[in-house]
Amino acid sequence: MSPASHRVTIAPSLLAADFSRLREEVAAVEAAGADWLHLDIMDGHFVPNMSFGPPVMKALRPHTRLPFDVHLMIAPVDPFIPAFVEAGANHVLLHPEAGPHLHRSLQHIRAHGMKSGVVLNPATPIDAVAWVLDLVDIILVMSVNPGFGGQQFLPSQLPKIAALRRMIDAADHPIALSVDGGIVPATAAQAISAGADTLVAGTAVFGAPDYAAAIAALRGERPAG
Ligand code: DX5
Ligand code: ZN
Repeated sequence: MSPASHRVTIAPSLLAADFSRLREEVAAVEAAGADWLHLDIMDGHFVPNMSFGPPVMKALRPHTRLPFDVHLMIAPVDPFIPAFVEAGANHVLLHPEAGPHLHRSLQHIRAHGMKSGVVLNPATPIDAVAWVLDLVDIILVMSVNPGFGGQQFLPSQLPKIAALRRMIDAADHPIALSVDGGIVPATAAQAISAGADTLVAGTAVFGAPDYAAAIAALRGERPAG
């Protein structure tokens, strides 16, 4: 399957939203054509920043139909999986460095009925996911160091996206190939041509005056009208 022949999935990252108006912000990106809502969970330990946790997700869950794409930047992960199920997570993505038993953590996520994802930091090789592919629905390539929005895209990750595209195309089940960090229209185009089918974007969506135009621009579509 050529990724270019399919519509790109856009997952706005709530980290860049106005936290005093989260419900309205989520409704606005849903109306603007977002496909998933990306939620960055940070513990101030696995990454040098803190964000929000399951109670905030749970409060938003009744107000949107968007799948919750939950990016865990926490360690450990396993004890918190039930809390994320309860808070309405649809996808749970974790870093291999967050615990000693990636395979077991992915089994836990799947056992709770959620889709599972593995997140690769800029320095993490693709081999980190190669032997757990059967338990993976999403691979997320970090194109910045995790912990903060608004950073510059790392072009060093483009060959990694291309190598993962080949790995996924050889797999026996569908796996989304997502990219997170520094995504703006120019870097979105580079990530898509390298083989990405899903883009996470914080600043480029929530920092824009017109969310629908910002999402269309990331997809490489021309603005309507
Ligand atoms: C960073 C997060 C990202 C972040 C992206 O740790 O994983 O999802 O919100 O922000 P932008 O799109 O501004 O680089
Ligand atoms: Zn993220």
